[in-house]
Amino acid sequence: MNPSEAAVTQLGECHAEDVDVAGSSPACGTIGAKDIVYLTREEERILDGEEGEGSAKAMKLLVTIGEINDAQKLIPIKSAQIAGVSYKTMGDAGLEFIEDFSKKAEVVVKSTLNPAGMDLSDYGSEYPEFRKKQLRLVEAYSKMGIERSCTCTPYLVGNRPHLDDHLAWSESSAVSFANSALGARTNREGGPSALMAGIIGKTSYYGLHLKENRAPEVIYKVDKDIPPALLGYHVGNQVGGKIPYFNGIKINNDGMKSLGAAMAATGAVALYHVEGMTPEAADFSLEGLEKVDVTREDIDELRDRLTLRDKPEAIVLGCPHLSSMEMERIAKHLDKKKPKDGPELRVYTSRWVKERSSHAVAVIEKYGKVIADTCMVVSPLEELYGTVATDSGKAVEYLPKLAGQRVIYADLESLLELIA
Ligand code: F3S
Repeated sequence: MNPSEAAVTQLGECHAEDVDVAGSSPACGTIGAKDIVYLTREEERILDGEEGEGSAKAMKLLVTIGEINDAQKLIPIKSAQIAGVSYKTMGDAGLEFIEDFSKKAEVVVKSTLNPAGMDLSDYGSEYPEFRKKQLRLVEAYSKMGIERSCTCTPYLVGNRPHLDDHLAWSESSAVSFANSALGARTNREGGPSALMAGIIGKTSYYGLHLKENRAPEVIYKVDKDIPPALLGYHVGNQVGGKIPYFNGIKINNDGMKSLGAAMAATGAVALYHVEGMTPEAADFSLEGLEKVDVTREDIDELRDRLTLRDKPEAIVLGCPHLSSMEMERIAKHLDKKKPKDGPELRVYTSRWVKERSSHAVAVIEKYGKVIADTCMVVSPLEELYGTVATDSGKAVEYLPKLAGQRVIYADLESLLELIA
C-alpha cells in the first residue's frame, strides 16, 4: 500500500465542534479519544467528500499527519514542491498510484516537481524503455496542474518564497534553502504529503512552521575558507537533526545551497542559521548552547577520506542543480582551453537555467553535456559509469547508495583541470 493510502486508512471519523482555533468557524476531528487537528467547516466539508474523493483523501492524509505531530490546525501554504518524480525511485507501483490519483484531484496552489529520472527532451535515447514510463509519470503530475519544472532549486526558477511564507516542500536541499537562506517555513515533507498539501492548499501546522521550533541548538565556530560542501558533509554527520548556528563563515546563495544540501544528506538538517547572513540568525538567544569548533585539519582529514585514488569515468556537477552564476563559473574556467582526453563531463541544471544560460551552455557543450530536468542521483547513472567524481557533498553521500557509484570528491577547479 502506498504510504499516503496507509495513512489515510488509519483516519477515524470527524466529529465537529464549534471551537475557534483556525480563526474561521472551525470544527474538529478525533481519532479514538484523542483530540486532533481542528478543521474549519470548509475543511470538514472536504474531508467528508463533498469536493470529491481525491480531495477527501488528501485532507485525510494532512489531518492524520497533523494528529501524529500534535498540530492544532492546518495552515495555508504559498506553494508545494513535490518529490517522487523519477521513475527510478517510484517504480511501477508509484506510477500507477500517481496516474490513478491524477484522475481525482488538482492542485490549488503553485506546485512544482523535483527532478525526473531523465532529461525530458534531449537525452531520452540513453534510456528508451525508462523514458516511456518517466514521461507517463510527469504527464500524470501535469494533469493535476503541477508545473513540469523538474528541479530541486525551485527558488532559482521563479518560485522564490519570502520571509515567513508557509510552504510544503519535500526536496531536502530545497527545504533547507527555503528555511535558512530565505526564512520561509516548511517541514521536510514526504512526496505524498507535499502533493496532498498542494491539492488542499494547506499543510499541518507543526514543527518548523512555528517560530519557537526554529531556534539554533548547537553553535559551530568555523575556520576561514572551508568549502561549503565539505563543511555541510562534516557538520551534518555530527549534528543529526538539530539546528546548527554557524559563526565565522561568509557565504553567498550558491554556498548556502551547497552547505544545506550536504547537511540534509549526511544529517537531517532542515534549517540552519549563519551569523550576520541568514534572516533569522539574530532572532534567538545563543546563551547556554553547546559550542563546537570546525578546523581546517578536520576538513583536510575529511577531504582525504573522500578522495579515492581511482580515475573517474565521468565528472558530474550540479547537485543541487546549478544556478546561472555557477554555469558561468564553469564556462569561464573552460573557455578557450584545449579539451584533454579525460573523463566525460555531465552538468545538471534546471531547464529554466539552461534556457537562460546560452553562452555558458555553448562553452560547456564543447567539453560535455548540459542536462536538464534530472540529476546524477535520480537518473540511472549506474547504466553508464562505475566511478564518477563530483564537488557536491550531497552527491558524495547519495551516489554510492542510490546509483551504485564509487565516488571521488574534489573541488570544482581540480575537476575541471582533468578535462581542459
Ligand atoms: Fe537535487 Fe538530485 Fe542533488 S534532486 S539536490 S541534484 S540529488
